[in-house]
Amino acid sequence: MEEIELVLGDITRQRVDVVVTAANESLLGGGGVDGAVHRAAGPRLARAGAELAPCAPGQAVATPAFDLAAVRHVIHTVGPVWEGGGHGEDEVLAACYVHSLRLAAGLGARSIAFPAIATGVYGFPVRRAAEIATRAIRSSSPSVATIRLVAFDRETHDAIAVTLGEDRGRSVP
Ligand code: APR
Repeated sequence: MEEIELVLGDITRQRVDVVVTAANESLLGGGGVDGAVHRAAGPRLARAGAELAPCAPGQAVATPAFDLAAVRHVIHTVGPVWEGGGHGEDEVLAACYVHSLRLAAGLGARSIAFPAIATGVYGFPVRRAAEIATRAIRSSSPSVATIRLVAFDRETHDAIAVTLGEDRGRSVP
């Protein structure tokens, strides 16, 4: 079982081959992590995104990382807006991770950093999202060697840490 790294920090500071951003369907950028990634990558990111838009929830598309230092590609994925849990939100969120990993593997990426997709503006409960993310990553048995979850705040970090710890506990024979 591959190790999933967890860090508390800014995803635009990660030295990885691929940075994943939590986008919206227009791929033109926005607030939150998407705003930070677009600011760091520069205006060419939105222009490249506009050529690939719209991106449906659960789907993922890749562009160059442009001015984002030390990063080769940005993968834009659109999370589900939380509507209470009865509208397939879990499946869409899982698809964000699976499709992003599949795309990164196809690009020959050796490392990838994910934000806590959908847990900000889109309102997805943090702990539930962490469980879905770790389960989706593990079930896709990715060929990407380094998978890093980047939490921007302590609450998100601790929710993911608990989930990772529980998962490891379950996985120990
Ligand atoms: N590095 C890492 N994580 C970050 C950063 C950053 N620089 N900035 C914010 N985050 C975290 C948030 O704290 C949250 O935990 O990213 C997580 C996802 O939150 P959002 O960025 O709000 O993303 P999401 O909930 O998926 O909403 C997407 O918001 O910004 C718009 O264009 C975006 O319409 C889309 C929507």
